[in-house]
Amino acid sequence: MRLSEHPLITREAIAVRVAELARQLDADFAGTEPVLVGVLKGALHFTSDLARAMQIDSQIEFLSAQSYVDTESSGSVTLREDGLPDLSGRAVILVEDILDTGRTAARLLEAVQAHGPATLRICTLLDKPARRGLPIEPDYTGFTIDDHFVVGYGLDYNQRYRGLPAVYTLEAD
Ligand code: IMP
Ligand code: MG
Repeated sequence: MRLSEHPLITREAIAVRVAELARQLDADFAGTEPVLVGVLKGALHFTSDLARAMQIDSQIEFLSAQSYVDTESSGSVTLREDGLPDLSGRAVILVEDILDTGRTAARLLEAVQAHGPATLRICTLLDKPARRGLPIEPDYTGFTIDDHFVVGYGLDYNQRYRGLPAVYTLEAD
């Protein structure tokens, strides 16, 4: 597998879109002290950039989820939510790198819903609706993309490429 020669989404386009999403979240969550719950590891840069682009103060928390091996969803989702504080009564925004089949998001929603948050929304950098098997739609989406396997800006292929500043597609050699 190798990286596409040009980014699918440039770092400039990401920055512009993150700023737009931040303005939307500022408006929608004014007066609520929202909790951004970033999903590690893929959403690490997105969560950080979003929090810094938002004008309102947000609490930042993380949980971790893993389902992919190589370029295929393994079908089972492993969650680690130790360290997550009590989210009851809070305005929670789950910050995801990408929504693909929707299985990870479904598990995350279930886990956070068990806390009894006041509101629970999903904000995803990327939405890949082509393979969605579950009736889950993000509330906030950075970019909707075709069914490519993508890496960079937090997204990995077997733990590689997360540090790239832009999003690239991964292509067969
Ligand atoms: P889902 O459970 O099928 O929706 O997959 C969601 C998770 O799989 C994401 O949080 C990513 O970690 C991973 N994933 C899905 N598609 C891609 C991709 O194109 N590149 C890298 N990781 C992906
Ligand atoms: Mg991943």
